[in-house]
Amino acid sequence: MARSRPASRWTLLFSLVVLLGCMVIPGWTVKHENFKTCAQSGFCRRNRDFADNASAKGEAWSSPYELDPATVHFKDGHLTGVLIKTTANEKVLLPLTVSFLESGAARVVVDEEKRLKGDIELRHDSKANKKRYDEAEKWVIVGGLEVSKSATLNAQAETGFTQVLYGPGDKFQAVIRHAPFGVDFQRDGQTHVQLNHQGLLNLEHWRPKVDRPEGEEAGEDESTWWEETFGGNTDSKPRGPESVGLDITFPGYDHVFGIPEHADSLSLKETRGGSGNHKEPYRMYNSDVFEYELNSPMTLYGAIPFMQAHRKSSTVGVFWLNAAETWVDIVKSTTSPNPLSLGASSKTNTQTHWFSEAGRIDLFVFLGPSPKEISKTYGELTGYTQLPQHFAIGYHQCRWNYVTDEDVKEVDAKFDKYQIPYDVIWLDLEYTDDRKYFTWEPLTFPNPTGMQEKLDESERKLVVLIDPHIKKEEGYFVQEELNKKNFAVRNKDGDVYEGWCWPGASNWVDCFNPAVISWWNSLHKYDRFKGSLSNLFIWNDMNEPSVFNGPETTMPKDNMHYGDWEHRDIHNVNGITLVNATYQALLERKKGEVRRPFILTRSYYAGAQRMAAMWTGDNQATWGHLAASLPMVLNNGISGFPFAGADVGGFFHNPDKDLLTRWYQAGIWYPFFRAHAHIDTRRREPYLISEPHRTIISQAIRLRYQLLPAWYTAFHEASVNGIPIVRPQYYVYPDDEEGFAIDDQLYLGATGLLAKPVVAENANTADIYISDDEKYYDYFDFTVYQGAGKRHTVPAPQEKVPLLIQGGHIIPRKDRPRRSSGLMRWDPYTLVVTLDKNGEADGSLYVDDGETFNYERGGYIHRRFHFRESVLSSEDLGAKGPKTAEYLKTMDGVTVERVVIVDPPKEWREKSSVTVVEDGAKTSSAAPLEYYKQQGKKASYAVVKKPNVGIGKTWRIEF
Ligand SMILES: *[C@@H]1O[C@H](CO)[C@@H](O)[C@H](O)[C@H]1NC(C)=O
Ligand SMILES: *[C@@H]1O[C@H](CO)[C@@H](O)[C@H](O)[C@H]1NC(C)=O
Repeated sequence: MARSRPASRWTLLFSLVVLLGCMVIPGWTVKHENFKTCAQSGFCRRNRDFADNASAKGEAWSSPYELDPATVHFKDGHLTGVLIKTTANEKVLLPLTVSFLESGAARVVVDEEKRLKGDIELRHDSKANKKRYDEAEKWVIVGGLEVSKSATLNAQAETGFTQVLYGPGDKFQAVIRHAPFGVDFQRDGQTHVQLNHQGLLNLEHWRPKVDRPEGEEAGEDESTWWEETFGGNTDSKPRGPESVGLDITFPGYDHVFGIPEHADSLSLKETRGGSGNHKEPYRMYNSDVFEYELNSPMTLYGAIPFMQAHRKSSTVGVFWLNAAETWVDIVKSTTSPNPLSLGASSKTNTQTHWFSEAGRIDLFVFLGPSPKEISKTYGELTGYTQLPQHFAIGYHQCRWNYVTDEDVKEVDAKFDKYQIPYDVIWLDLEYTDDRKYFTWEPLTFPNPTGMQEKLDESERKLVVLIDPHIKKEEGYFVQEELNKKNFAVRNKDGDVYEGWCWPGASNWVDCFNPAVISWWNSLHKYDRFKGSLSNLFIWNDMNEPSVFNGPETTMPKDNMHYGDWEHRDIHNVNGITLVNATYQALLERKKGEVRRPFILTRSYYAGAQRMAAMWTGDNQATWGHLAASLPMVLNNGISGFPFAGADVGGFFHNPDKDLLTRWYQAGIWYPFFRAHAHIDTRRREPYLISEPHRTIISQAIRLRYQLLPAWYTAFHEASVNGIPIVRPQYYVYPDDEEGFAIDDQLYLGATGLLAKPVVAENANTADIYISDDEKYYDYFDFTVYQGAGKRHTVPAPQEKVPLLIQGGHIIPRKDRPRRSSGLMRWDPYTLVVTLDKNGEADGSLYVDDGETFNYERGGYIHRRFHFRESVLSSEDLGAKGPKTAEYLKTMDGVTVERVVIVDPPKEWREKSSVTVVEDGAKTSSAAPLEYYKQQGKKASYAVVKKPNVGIGKTWRIEF
């Protein structure tokens, strides 16, 4: 939900207006005046000015930072030293640590000595922590910090340099220049990432405010140093200016991806103006942006300051671990070929410039060389995607709001009547008693347990909204406990902070406090959240946090959190601290009942993937928003948070039938597949749509359900190695330059399924780009497409989802339509086999109970399917554990009921049966084979009926 009104329009009338249900939707575009431009943000402007000054000086510019060689020590994988920043009147000491990690990543940390020692004074009697914020890693980093045992100083370093060899086979090297300070990261002798190459390193050190006599000018422009006002709110800045900035250059790289969340293309654009470029830097300052705009570097609800640079056959990356407001400028420069060196081609360098308002410089550098290695190493640090409960990958039906418990039951019954599968129905905030979370509105939801029990009959779930703002109302038990225990966020004067949100006057729970986690935990127990059952899960919204009357619709930066950190220091991790608390709470709502939590979060930071799914917030029912959802979801995936989706149908406004239909056909490719709608929109549950659209939408949802085994396998892969669930073209074909900027088609896991949803009005074809010279088959009729490095036009009438299968794959499916995914648990499988040029195919399947953590103790099935020399076989990829035998027993009766082989060898025309050999069986058996001849451009195919081999068993089918 979450569709906040801009502060200026927030009035007491608001709730009245909602009650009357006649809220007028004003413009369709974002209110730019509610959000800062770079020029309106003091530190952004200062860092850009600093960059402009440097580039104006050109060769004459020299960065004022030096590494003092006398301080350099290298021990046990850590290089330490002191950077000296020389200003007109002082030398500022900045401790530096460069750690070389076993994973091949390197970490560069720069802090400020005076701040570390607490040797500064705060203005306005502030009680804020004197250190630079150094606890982001507590919320973000979960591993991967083991230092390399083999990293060594390079004895052959040039004078004025310290060089460290590290990484796999010592193929990486950090070349650290002392003066001016800079680092070149090399792989195989070639430089891939450069720090301070352009001399934009800038750490605004602490200094006292000097009150000058009237008329005396300060040496520098101090207008944004001590105080900043925006939208009627003044930030008191008790520590003065304290930003950190650094330029990071990727020589020879012309694409950079990542740094979500922005409604923009996958390949990030330049940001310093010029045709087709942005004028503003990409901003990361988690915000509730009402009616956000497309093709924009504006900030949105979440932030992951992780970037990949990609060129043919090489991917590298950086992760800027800083929780404060952050902006990134991107400029690409082309170095012309030297006219004397024949054959040399021009090359593009991508120069990025990162700056954050506060905190330390804490940067991880990844040298790849492939996108998969980057995903793995980054995932080791921030954690891999949570393997969700199986229901969570089905279809979610949401709207603001289902108005009564009877309404919920009726929607549930209608889905059954029209035979449309779904797994989860959602309640937005109106289920609560007067917007008090952990309560139910007594008149409209008198029987919440009856409602959940009804849903449970078809293994369906309920998700309800719980937000971090707590209504300020006497007698509300959550509010009373919050205050009694001192668990609320405070303002700069130390009083409980009060702002406006859905309930009106509210306080905010401060999840940075470890004691809050156990309290939050207790609130979710069945005996405290009365009326909640075990099939209820949680949606954490508005956790940027959204504050209707706050600056930029969020909290004042000088608010105070646990640990005496200013809101400025922690803003971007604020959202995940709530999710973290909710995750702990859902783990064990009743003693002994341990289930995987399901949480949807709107605000996020790196690490959120361990705990939650995300959606792209309050989009609009337009074709543009439908199109934008694909690069946004893909970008989240490569940035380590692949359990992502957009509101199907568009949140604001009413989609027409064509748009809604196409949106479902696209939405089935979001890892998180949920329809949602604003309170002012017309009802649009799929069964309400007139024919033929209803049937087309139902078929799309059924296609999702048919492929759930492939989806769950892709989720599993993401959960063990960080590979995105849906993958963009460059990720799958990192050597094919033609595909690097393509962000409107996607691959599902490693299945070879290539989808290109239709996102344009009235389109009835889709041009799918194919990178290699394998055959690709239309998923539905096996029409063959072949030809590398070009686009192929595929028919896409309204009823059709453009979808190809690459040759060489084995895809597990379940073909029997059911009401929910839970009811498909014991259904048999179909395997679809497409052969590659060598007549071989590969695939895999992961399956477990979809609910508990028993998979961590061997309670799962993981098979590899292989087709080679006319034999289809199933081998075990799993490792045995204490729960293996028990799980296999429950799956004993689950078999493969059908094998479809597309484009089989011609000789199969003569065959009428195959031989089935199951491990442990005394004899082999025969199963019938039916051959279907090629027709026109459609490939032939053969079907093995009822081989009935066990899904958890080792077997062979001989053709
Ligand atoms: C940029 O240069 C101008 C003119 O020399 C100076 O006044 C200003 O302080 C500089 N800005 C920064 C951020 O270095
Ligand atoms: C939640 O935060 C705590 C404290 O930082 C941490 O120990 C725990 O691992 C986090 N939980 C998850 C699921 O990341």
